[in-house]
Amino acid sequence: TAQRDALKQRAAELLRQQQAVLVAHYYVDGDLQDLALATGGCVSDSLEMARFGRDHAAGTLVVAGVRFMGESAKILSPAKRVLMPDLDATCSLDLGCPADEFNRFCDAHPDRTVVVYANTSAAVKARADWMVTSSCALSIVQHLHDQGRKILWAPDKHLGSYVQRQTGADMLMWNGACIVHDEFKGLELELLRREHPQAKVLVHPESPREVVDQADVVGSTAQMLRAVIEMDAPEFIVATDNGMFHRMRQSAPGKRLIEAPTAGNSATCKSCAHCPWMAMNGLQGVVDCLEKGLGEIQVDEPIRSQALGCIDRMLDFVA
Ligand code: 13P
Ligand code: SF4
Repeated sequence: TAQRDALKQRAAELLRQQQAVLVAHYYVDGDLQDLALATGGCVSDSLEMARFGRDHAAGTLVVAGVRFMGESAKILSPAKRVLMPDLDATCSLDLGCPADEFNRFCDAHPDRTVVVYANTSAAVKARADWMVTSSCALSIVQHLHDQGRKILWAPDKHLGSYVQRQTGADMLMWNGACIVHDEFKGLELELLRREHPQAKVLVHPESPREVVDQADVVGSTAQMLRAVIEMDAPEFIVATDNGMFHRMRQSAPGKRLIEAPTAGNSATCKSCAHCPWMAMNGLQGVVDCLEKGLGEIQVDEPIRSQALGCIDRMLDFVA
């Protein structure tokens, strides 16, 4: 619509005037993803978002995603101004892992190496030895297991148990889940696969085991996008937030993409296949945060410098 185009133009103008760059996740509104790519920003998974923000010369990063992504950007680049379209955009994994409770869990198991998922607060990261994202969790835990380390893992139980099965590592786990991926159903997926015998199945590892076990590819959002582009198959069943389909369709226009089944549909289930917090990001929010200086992320010292350690360790490992 004309109004949308006007907002897009205004946002692009503000980004240019303020020498700001838009760093977006694949689950946010397609207009935001397009704007990021058209203005020299990036659309990616949480690992690449962190790297891109750190390495970009812009003085202002506008992070379109959820709060932990903005915090990671600020932790890595304290001298940059980091803005978010909506500071209330959180994540069920972050909400389900409060720092005080997490610290007590760590205190009770001092012999374990603490590995946390990116989807946590700065305060939780401040207590961790390693941060991982879905794209590097497997290789980092494998590395620690090879060194004979026992692991304390938080907060995602599905990603944790997938990594545990793959590596055989000794992992003590927090009981967290993503409200979006937790809804994908194994039995319904089996039935759908029978209707589409040629389809490859792509699954984000925050999904339950019954779903992960049926995957041809288990990976981060960026890894799933790559699979759609590179794999020689006419159709794909995709178990992740449906925001992902925007970039997949653009990048592999000839391929048929099918949403993996959840128990409900969007009429009966608010978090089925689309993250309510990712959905809080819009063009208006980008315009407002730049025009009014709203939504600035702050991470207090010494939490910031303590949290930096586990992120840097991951980035050095994947470099
Ligand atoms: P990725 O790092 O795979 O993009 O995942 C982030 C996330 O929040 C998935 O729900
Ligand atoms: Fe968190 Fe799940 Fe939303 Fe990702 S999709 S931000 S893991 S609630």
